[in-house]
This record gives sequence, structure tokens and C-alpha cells, in this order.
Amino acid sequence: MATIQAVPNREQLDQYKERLLQLKKERNAIILAHYYMRAEVQEVADYIGDSFGLAQKAKDTDADVILFCGVHFMAESAKILNPNKIVLMPDERSGCPMADMVTGEGLRKLKAEHPNATVVAYVNTSAEVKAETDICCTSSNALKVINSVESDEIIWVPDKNLGHYVSQFTDKKMIIWQGYCNTHDLLTPEEVLALKAEYPDAPIVVHPECRPEVVALGDYVGSTTGILKYCRESDFKNYIVATEEGVRYMLEKESPEKTFHFASRYMVCPNMKVHNVKKMVRALETMQPQIEVDPEVAEKARRSLDRMLEIVPK
Ligand code: 13P
Ligand code: SF4
Repeated sequence: MATIQAVPNREQLDQYKERLLQLKKERNAIILAHYYMRAEVQEVADYIGDSFGLAQKAKDTDADVILFCGVHFMAESAKILNPNKIVLMPDERSGCPMADMVTGEGLRKLKAEHPNATVVAYVNTSAEVKAETDICCTSSNALKVINSVESDEIIWVPDKNLGHYVSQFTDKKMIIWQGYCNTHDLLTPEEVLALKAEYPDAPIVVHPECRPEVVALGDYVGSTTGILKYCRESDFKNYIVATEEGVRYMLEKESPEKTFHFASRYMVCPNMKVHNVKKMVRALETMQPQIEVDPEVAEKARRSLDRMLEIVPK
């Protein structure tokens, strides 16, 4: 019989948090969390960031243990950048469907067809794909990365929407893989326009993983960190937000006087939501599940990640 997971009450949550603090000290652990995490996870994180910030922090930390609250490719990247540290995830089932849309084998085949192209991979890829990649990028530095490579021909994997977005700002020929994010790609321009009719003065802020027709409506287009910065620094009262709903936690924390209207209530990444504080406690207690990457694959993948980290977003 299936069991129903009980939602902890405030008192239980406080107990978990207290235990987490204790364990963190004992293990010399750091908690890294993506902005799409549940609020209870963001509340206890040592660092909250987008994909670029998290990779940077994972590389720089002097903790012995990284408890990574994000999807699997992010924890894998932390392990690749820190082969001698223990990287844990609260729940290992946290995958990214977009990352699964490209395989090492598929990429090798495409490379054979375009031997002169440079491979640029969005970090939303497996270690095996990163090992076949010249340089990784995130949505925050994608264009800078593309313009940093010498070649005029780019193989771009896996996000067709981010690929389309950056292709508008470069003269390089881009061979674009047809992957997408199930969460961002489902938003339609009609949903955004319906909100715009209600709040005509509100700027539309969009993550570039959305469809081109949605991105075209954006007054601001950028990564999660970029969206937060734009909303923090501009003076509007209302904002129409086209990205995953977990960002609401930080938007409201940073700008409590502003109102954020999310373009769709269906923009929830279920893979990000599997983590919770109870599972974080269990991970630090049992020191499981640990993320492992084959050392030979990790060595090659590290080069493409290290190259990416040199291209700091503006
Ligand atoms: P950023 O964190 O780089 O904005 O990317 C969003 C995302 O979908 C992560 O999986
Ligand atoms: Fe993957 Fe999309 Fe979820 Fe990000 S939001 S982890 S790209 S499925």
C-alpha cells in the first residue's frame, strides 16, 4: 500500500532544523541550494544560487561535505569540481528531464558530422556529455561563452530555447539540439498576455528556457540570478514572472513591498521539489546518498566546467 508523506508541522520543522545545524558542524558540511527549492530548504541553506553561482561556490568551498539541494547534474558538477569531497543529495531521484534529452553517444555522432564545430553544453547535461564538451555555460553567461570560442561553428546542447535565444545575438553558425525544459516550455504567450492585460504597467521577466514566443515578450530575459537582480533594482510595483515558482521565495524576501504575478501556476519543477529538511537531516546522519562520477569521465568533464567558470557573468 502506498504511504502518504505527512507534512511536518512548525514544531517538527524546527526540530529538524536544529538537528541539521548540529550535523552540519559535526560533518563540516555546507548546504548549497538552488532558487527552485522549497522555502523550508532555502531557509536553512548556507548559499542559495543559480546554476552558475552554485558551481562557483562548490568549487570554492573548504567544507569537507557538500549537501547539494538541486537536481542531479548540479550535484554531479559539484563532485566533478571537488573529487576529494563528499557530495550528498537529500534525494537522489532529483533528475532533470532536459539533461536526459542528450546522451554521450548522440553527441559523439553529431560531432562526427561536424568535425570543425566547438561543442558548447548548457550545464544541464550529464557528466558523460560534459566529457564530450569543449566548454559549458549556464543561462547567465551563454552568450559570453559562445563569443569566447574561436570557431565560427557551434554545436549547442541540449536546450533549443536557450539556443534560439543566444543565436539572435551572434553571427556564429549554431547547430542546435532539440531538447527543452518541461517546466519552462509549457508556458504559452497567451498566458503571459492575459496577465499583461490585467497589469499593463508590470514588466515581463522571462527565463530563456521558455519558448521563443514567450521570450520575445520579455522586458527582461535572464537567468534566475538575473531575474532577481532586475526585480530588486527596478522601481515597478508589479512584475509578471515567467519562470519556476520557487523563485517567489527570494523575490518576496528581497522586495517585500513588490507584487510578483507568476505567469502560470503550472511552472513547478517536480524534480526540484523532492528535497525537504527531513531528507537533508537523513542525508547528513547516514552520509547517503553520495554522488559518484567515474574518475576518467570526471577528469574530462572538469575541463569544460573549469573553462566555463572563467567566463563570469556580468
Ligand atoms: P539557472 O539556475 O541557471 O537560472 O537555470 C535554471 C534551471 O532550470 C536550472 O535547472
Ligand atoms: Fe531541468 Fe527544467 Fe527542472 Fe531546471 S526547471 S531542473 S531545466 S526540468
